[in-house]
Amino acid sequence: MNDYQPSRADKFSFGLWTVGWQAQDVFGGPTRAPLDSVEAVHRLSDLGAAAVTFHDDDLFPFGSDDATRDHLISRFKDALKATGVRVEMVTTNLFSHPIFKDGGFTSNDRAVRRFAIKKVLRNIDLAAELGAETYVLWGGREGAESGGAKDVAAALDRYREGLNLLCAYVRDQGYDIRFALEPKPNEPRGDILLPTIGHALALISTLEEPDRVGLNPEVGHEEMAGLNFAHGIAQALWHGKLFHIDLNGQHGPRFDQDLRFGAGNLRGAFWTVDVLETGGYTGYRHFDYKPPRTEDYDGVWETARACMRNYLILKERVASFRADPEVAAALEAARVNELYEPTLSEGETIESLRAEEFDVEKLAARGGAFEYLDQLAMEHLLGVRS
Ligand code: GCO
Ligand code: MN
Ligand code: MN
Repeated sequence: MNDYQPSRADKFSFGLWTVGWQAQDVFGGPTRAPLDSVEAVHRLSDLGAAAVTFHDDDLFPFGSDDATRDHLISRFKDALKATGVRVEMVTTNLFSHPIFKDGGFTSNDRAVRRFAIKKVLRNIDLAAELGAETYVLWGGREGAESGGAKDVAAALDRYREGLNLLCAYVRDQGYDIRFALEPKPNEPRGDILLPTIGHALALISTLEEPDRVGLNPEVGHEEMAGLNFAHGIAQALWHGKLFHIDLNGQHGPRFDQDLRFGAGNLRGAFWTVDVLETGGYTGYRHFDYKPPRTEDYDGVWETARACMRNYLILKERVASFRADPEVAAALEAARVNELYEPTLSEGETIESLRAEEFDVEKLAARGGAFEYLDQLAMEHLLGVRS
């Protein structure tokens, strides 16, 4: 019997800012005491996580002097060594300090843009030192609340300039690090630049070194925009751009809920795991969620455990769906396999297609047989088929 107990081989990873969120929101202050990064590493290790991730400011407060910074990094490194937990991704906080109120790379204020790049460069050096392979860029404050305040074309020029510069830096340093852009439609800005997977992919294609840059899509962010996350990551994979992922839960278009993975849109989570497990994704299964404000630390560790457990349960449900002979027959009946066949046969010219006679009425009358297939998926998800 599967006990859904995670192991390092499952490659589960957590942001220090997730379990460490003190639960302050726009209507009230923190409900939890600060969490020491050393304790976070030990607790996550005990629960079965393989890696942690962090923003610079999660590990050492903004503006720390060098001695404080070194001390905090060194005790964090000791915790990594003691547990065998690794750092797989690092990112920069370009959103909390008031200096970033109009963004980092795309602030109208040129001095702020220069400061933001300097902050990122310093933290990339730390990421390389810790052996992280991915560097995430989430432009939470890159955006606007009003139309005239931001020239979008100029902002995209500056975004691209910043990314080109970071790519050149990792190349010159010989760092084995790839960048992953994280789209989000809004919050904290009224509108954020690169709001969806599609917008970010389009920007990447204009970069000087596009191979160094991919995506870190987040479940909740695409769903806030009413989009289908599984479709979004399937397209990112198709482009070879799913470098990393932020797994969490969301109930449709509303504020960024950051629920634990599996909460919110459970059917969406099933298809997300299906794409990750069958679509060739080999990276970390990274959770970016916020334990609700109601929880004390017992509740926090329960949410962390539940993120991994829900992933493993869904992985098992997906495997049972994919292995079911009735599903195989239903896929055949729904012509899902026919989509693998090119529309023109090899060597065929467009002339033979033009010469073909089609029985339009007959083709139009054919049923898709998709609903039976979907019902089978639902029954596997609900655990009544195995
Ligand atoms: C959010 C974002 C962030 C980023 C993180 C990594 O909506 O707050 O998801 O949690 O993922 O800053 O860059
Ligand atoms: Mn989020
Ligand atoms: Mn995120």
